[in-house]
Amino acid sequence: MTRFDLFVEEALYGQNGFYSKGQRAGSEGADFITSPETSTLFGACIAEYLDRVWHELECPNPFVVIEAGSGPGTLCRDIFLSIQDCSDALRYVMVERSEPQREIAFRDVTTRCFLDQQEVPLAALQDLPAGPFTGVVLANELLDNLPPRVVKKTAKGWLELYVEQGAEAWQPTPPEAQTMASAVAPKAQTGTCLPLQLKAAVWVNRALATLERGRLLTFDYGVQSSEIFTKRPMGEWLRTYRNHQRSGSPYQEPGSRDVTCDVAFDQLPGKPSICTQADWLKNQGLYSMTDWARKQWQTALPSPDAAAVAARSVLDEAAALTDPEGLGGFLVAEWRVGD
Ligand SMILES: C[S@@+](CC[C@H](N)C(=O)[O-])C[C@H]1O[C@@H](n2cnc3c(N)ncnc32)[C@H](O)[C@@H]1O
Repeated sequence: MTRFDLFVEEALYGQNGFYSKGQRAGSEGADFITSPETSTLFGACIAEYLDRVWHELECPNPFVVIEAGSGPGTLCRDIFLSIQDCSDALRYVMVERSEPQREIAFRDVTTRCFLDQQEVPLAALQDLPAGPFTGVVLANELLDNLPPRVVKKTAKGWLELYVEQGAEAWQPTPPEAQTMASAVAPKAQTGTCLPLQLKAAVWVNRALATLERGRLLTFDYGVQSSEIFTKRPMGEWLRTYRNHQRSGSPYQEPGSRDVTCDVAFDQLPGKPSICTQADWLKNQGLYSMTDWARKQWQTALPSPDAAAVAARSVLDEAAALTDPEGLGGFLVAEWRVGD
């Protein structure tokens, strides 16, 4: 019998784990699609943000940007292609647990952005570096992949989810998890299931500890309050994906599918400012970046040429990144350190 979070940890990151085998986001052969894989506009907006934070921090050199869960390096590449003011000071660290992805990412970013350079301002590591640094830690869709513990309220208190021979097994919950469950969802009714996101909380604390001054910025699907879980069945907030589709039981064929959980931001340390991805991207100037495309498309109507169709696809990408029912509804959390 294995506790649920440890079971998922092995299914995602063990020797034959889903991510250990090199699964990546993207369109071809991928099991999920993320904002960096949807449009280069996402990286362009983050580059705007990094330039602004660099000025706010009084132009430090080096300016260290750590991207955790960097996957195939798409976001890193787009940031290097768009960054302006802080480009000379920028030292970028991709942190990726999967070795195949780390190798792909380092090769791809160096060949696309630094082909003629002997030394690159880029490193690819397996875990967060020690710090402390002045800069920014970024993570897109990392926290949802840090497996939660899962508890259920019963008439006799909370039980905890274990996995035994491909099926759920509910066991007595240790006292510290009972206390946490009651604190995050005090109004939970009997039968309510709840994730306890201790790994995500530990990761946020570690990321904050790498910074002497700067920002931690995360993008993920989730909720601001764990109370929301009490109204939703477990299958809605704990999901599996394979081939872009919702997939079956997380307990069977471990390693064959992604297992992901909505992030409960109230379970994370500190007091980040939180807004939707749609609002965050608008504040970074997404619409002024796409103004040219809007004008080109409107001018070319009613018989658009090839350039106008290309402009239209830029507008479609911006719409996908800000769709309130999809990526635009993700939550962006920003922690400030040292100011
Ligand atoms: C859903 S993918 C997102 C990839 C990329 N950020 C994107 O938006 O396309 C999550 C990634 O986080 C990586 N990962 C999971 N836990 C990690 C950790 N503790 N440190 C670094 N990377 C991790 C996984 O291997 C996977 O590549």
